[in-house]
Amino acid sequence: MKRQLRWVSLVSLGAAVAIGAVGCLGGEAEETSTSIGAVSFGDALPGTNAAQFAAAKANFEATETQQDGLGPIFNERSCSACHSVGATGGAGQNIERRYGTLTNGLFNSLANTGGSLRQLFGIGGYNPSPGVNCQSGTAANPAPGATIFAGRVTTPTLGAGLVELIPDSTITGIAAAQPASIRGVANFDTIHLTDGPFVRGQSHVARFGWKAVHASVTDFAADAYLNEMGITTTSCAGGTVVSDFATENRANRAPTNAVINGCPDDLVPGTDDNFAAEHNNCAGGLTAVQDDVANFAFFMRNTAAPPRGIDNSNGRGLTEFNREGCNGCHVTTTFTVHINGQNVSFQPFSDFLTHDMGSLGDGIGNDNDSVATTRRMRTSPLWGLRFRNGILHDARTSDRGTAIRAHAGQGAAAASAFGSATGAQQNDLLLFLSSL
Ligand code: HEC
Ligand code: HEC
Repeated sequence: MKRQLRWVSLVSLGAAVAIGAVGCLGGEAEETSTSIGAVSFGDALPGTNAAQFAAAKANFEATETQQDGLGPIFNERSCSACHSVGATGGAGQNIERRYGTLTNGLFNSLANTGGSLRQLFGIGGYNPSPGVNCQSGTAANPAPGATIFAGRVTTPTLGAGLVELIPDSTITGIAAAQPASIRGVANFDTIHLTDGPFVRGQSHVARFGWKAVHASVTDFAADAYLNEMGITTTSCAGGTVVSDFATENRANRAPTNAVINGCPDDLVPGTDDNFAAEHNNCAGGLTAVQDDVANFAFFMRNTAAPPRGIDNSNGRGLTEFNREGCNGCHVTTTFTVHINGQNVSFQPFSDFLTHDMGSLGDGIGNDNDSVATTRRMRTSPLWGLRFRNGILHDARTSDRGTAIRAHAGQGAAAASAFGSATGAQQNDLLLFLSSL
């Protein structure tokens, strides 16, 4: 969906959101784009350079080919092929597949069979060097040894630049203030790429993805480029080559069956985008991120938060949301960050912590995680909920009441508060959710 870029003065922002929301009454995301001065779903943050944003967005939408480095195994050919619902950068219909097993009671990602993420497609035959004919692996399904399977639907990236700037101490402070029965866990991640507000090697609270795995959108972008599209990259940090995202994935098959036509199925057909080599191995103390990754990050960092819609419960639904304890995790905090030379306030309705969700947890983790750790899921930000289709990590439902009832573990008390609320209270709550 193509939209004209508009410029919004910060002064008009409050009113503009309300005007934009009127267009959403009919449930048509597109209608918001006609309102004057409004920030529509998928728009740039005020103050973003329009030409740079358009170029970065075009890169996020660009379909990659084998010549661009796609594969040998991959899930899709562009970021926006998945992040597309309502606007480029929105949620998606694509449900990724993860798997693993338990070994001596601890999670095992079966990395030697290509886990825990499955790549669903292969490029077929390819020639890594003249005269060498290889065949990309086609995944064995189920992967050998797998006993745990999970689906994960595409999450939206809109407003990611705002989320990225929430100070770590704000998030850990929320955790400290939570009652023990629902207290979340802040995941920490070591920064890979020096970009935006981050320097390689720093440790920050991870806040992106269903399991809160990365703190930086640049790291997420390089990770997605590799794992979703099979495009490896190198970057530079202070004159040093960063090759954290430069190893091809192997297809999901038994390790003993990993050589096809004499070619290992995780053969690196050249480093797809060896930015560091192009720049003389980062000579001169160069710090720079590979250009596609930098563009993806710029696009995600500079999209505005999803605009709020009309609350037809006249405020009663929010009262109910708080009464049932939803705000324990989906905190109602208005965060304020400084971005593009101005202060921007936003309400994502998430603490960005991970919670033990009991039977709702997806059971996937890092190698040697305990079962309890694999049940942890990040509190889903509820902003933009009305633009979503399938909800919960595996998109098992589009019905919000069903999603609430599925909350278990630390979410069980809230689920039962919803279950024992009156029909009118439930209706108010659902009307409120429809405004997000
Ligand atoms: C095959 C579909 C697919 C493609 C292609 C894809 N993504 Fe995603 N994206 C997902 C899924 C699924 C998730 C949730 C993953 C998870 O948490 O396990 C996700 C999550 C994200 C997030 C985290 C948002 C949040 O906080 O929840 C970012 C950032 C992101 N993707 C960026 C990108 C970029 C940049 C590209 C292109 C290089 C890309 N994605 C390509 C499916 C895709
Ligand atoms: C203990 C923390 C916690 C509490 C309390 C809680 N939630 Fe959640 N919520 C989560 C987590 C974590 C997820 C993601 C779960 C998953 O899909 O695996 C989630 C997901 C959701 C989703 C689906 C969003 C999406 O992105 O797919 C909705 C809607 C939702 N919660 C609403 C509520 C409401 C309404 C209440 C109160 C009745 C509530 N939640 C209480 C933690 C909580």
